Amino acid sequence: MGRSLLRSRSLKKLLSIGRRGSDEEPRKSPCHLPSANLASHPKLTWRCFSYREIFQATRGFRQENLVGRGGYAEVYKGILADGQAIAVKRLTPALTDGKREREFLTELGTVGHVSHPNVSCLLGCCVENGLHLIFALSTRGSVSSNLHDESKPIMTWKQRFRIAVGTGRGLQYLHKGCQRRIIHRDIKASNVLLTDNFDPQISDFGLARWLPSEWSHHAIAPIEGTFGCLAPEYYTHGIVHEKTDVFAFGVFLLEVISGRKPVDRFYKSLLIWARPYLNDGSIEAIVDPRIGDDYDLDQLKRLTFVASLCVRASASWRPTMTQVLELLEGTGEISPERWQMPDDEQDEEGFWDFDDLDDDTNSRSSSSSSSGSTGK
Ligand SMILES: Nc1ncnc2c1ncn2[C@@H]1O[C@H](COP(=O)(O)OP(=O)(O)O)[C@@H](O)[C@H]1O
Ligand SMILES: [Mg+2]
Repeated sequence: MGRSLLRSRSLKKLLSIGRRGSDEEPRKSPCHLPSANLASHPKLTWRCFSYREIFQATRGFRQENLVGRGGYAEVYKGILADGQAIAVKRLTPALTDGKREREFLTELGTVGHVSHPNVSCLLGCCVENGLHLIFALSTRGSVSSNLHDESKPIMTWKQRFRIAVGTGRGLQYLHKGCQRRIIHRDIKASNVLLTDNFDPQISDFGLARWLPSEWSHHAIAPIEGTFGCLAPEYYTHGIVHEKTDVFAFGVFLLEVISGRKPVDRFYKSLLIWARPYLNDGSIEAIVDPRIGDDYDLDQLKRLTFVASLCVRASASWRPTMTQVLELLEGTGEISPERWQMPDDEQDEEGFWDFDDLDDDTNSRSSSSSSSGSTGK
């Protein structure tokens, strides 16, 4: 079959979301969240900080207080006068333009309206001498730095599983639990931060979008996000909906299990590397060799099964985050038959086996930033 015909058929399938009925789950208002969650994470109100306050807290934005740098912002740790540890995200003055400012305000508008133990906690903002967002400090930095920074201890299986489930809960909350539907658009290990107890918190809402509840999806241009984490319907057509985040979550799971980056320094995709192991069931080969066999096999089966569903090319055959959590937190046997795709759909999965992404990555990342992001 001609490649273009196949592609147009595939596109229809990629876009046919909601067919399995799974996208029709009722939204939950925050008061429907488990009470334990809310009790441990009361609704916080944010406030405006003076520049003087954050200047003093970060000791004049000293270099030694710099804890992170993204595409357009620098993040400094600091201590407020009342002893609270904070992270100040400052829009890099040299990179400030209308687009960056818009992303910054998007982040303020989104993260300022959410409250969940697995989502970064905004304390406030400061608009004097530039734009600043003030967050509670996530003391252990990002999942990415903990996985890939050789100076940090190797993360145990227990920590990794906790991170996988907690991040899933945070994302489920954004999709279904908070007052409006939020699509994050840049789920990846450097945007998931860790508290002292290795509890994950989803951060960096610069690309996030609110979707009206009646829209099945939204088309966005330009395409921004991170190579290796982009769902096919998004990187080919700019289509955004919950399932684009689900796809990125699948890649995130593979990164957490394997300790490999979504795209390595040779521009090789983690997905292409992992797919044969996922397909033939040799899942032990995916585990980060640094943790040896010190892992729980049942948890590994759950994580790899969920990852394989999340990274399906066809959005409609990916699970919702609610279903992801049922699979991750369940205790019974997983039943793969429930998730079996018809043969013709399976054939097309092969077609979308990310060869395009790999080609794109090779050609486009030479002009992208070292973080591998397309837009940030
Ligand atoms: N609340 C925080 N606590 C600790 N470190 C943080 C915090 N927020 C951000 N960082 C660090 O700064 C980095 C960049 O922050 P991020 O919000 O992702 O910026 P960008 O939008 O530029 O990517 C993160 O990967 C992380 O290492
Ligand atoms: Mg980031």
